[in-house]
Amino acid sequence: MKLEEKIAIVTGAGAGIGAASAALFVREGAKVIAVDIDPAALAQTSAQRTSADILNVVADVSKRNDVDLVVRTALDKYGRIDILFNNAGIVPPGKIDAIDEVQWDRAMAINVKSMYLFCHAVIPQFKKQGSGVILNTASATALRAVVDRACYTATKAAVIGLTKSMALDYVRDNIRVNCLCPGTIDTPSLAQRIAAFPDPAKARKNFIARQPMGRFGTAEEIAEAALYLVSPEAGFVTGMAFAIDGGFSI
Ligand SMILES: NC(=O)c1ccc[n+]([C@@H]2O[C@H](COP(=O)([O-])OP(=O)(O)OC[C@H]3O[C@@H](n4cnc5c(N)ncnc54)[C@H](O)[C@@H]3O)[C@@H](O)[C@H]2O)c1
Repeated sequence: MKLEEKIAIVTGAGAGIGAASAALFVREGAKVIAVDIDPAALAQTSAQRTSADILNVVADVSKRNDVDLVVRTALDKYGRIDILFNNAGIVPPGKIDAIDEVQWDRAMAINVKSMYLFCHAVIPQFKKQGSGVILNTASATALRAVVDRACYTATKAAVIGLTKSMALDYVRDNIRVNCLCPGTIDTPSLAQRIAAFPDPAKARKNFIARQPMGRFGTAEEIAEAALYLVSPEAGFVTGMAFAIDGGFSI
């Protein structure tokens, strides 16, 4: 029980890495506020959970009012927040001349501004408590470039910069800030990206061919890394961009 009685906000908890992390955090004793824009996804994943320790909140992480509602809900119910896992994100594909301004702004809002909104809302509470842990989801593409991901990579490089900067700013407030850099992980988001190719079977083969281990990672493998970084075991770890990518960024 590495997270006994800890209160954790997990965004993007309706699917993939967020869903696996929310489930693991609860198994480790946490009470989780599971946040997602997609009510059906949240309902579906919570139907697989039997725990009363998960509270679903439908919210768009890029909207200030929604973020404030999530934080208020957590504080009203539990009176404190110990862990903020900023995980929700989208993957806009394409080279920069194929990305229009609307796609660019949307990716920046969901992948980066959301982290500003949540951190801005939660850090005063962490300071009041004298402790807190933030984990952000970046990507291995911010460590090693791949084709057709310019906008996405820009958002994830921003997440690494934000993580390091915040880690330094709040190190004496007993607030740790780290980020995950997952490689290619078998989640609904990856399945959608593969399905969008004219020949999905070939695309899947190509995606696997670029993996040094010859396979995708699983959401559960990323959740285990998330668990470590938010747990007291990682008490001396801050400001790190933690790659879990099967050797992709070597
Ligand atoms: N899957 C991968 O290969 C991979 C690799 C590196 C990084 N990542 C990152 O990991 C994170 C999770 O990815 P995943 O693969 O589990 O994705 P996913 O699409 O399977 O799940 C993401 C969840 O976030 C939710 N979401 C999207 N926009 C939202 C918004 N505005 N507000 C609230 N919720 C929103 C979606 O509804 C979905 O349930 C993302 O930040 C992604 O960029 C994924």
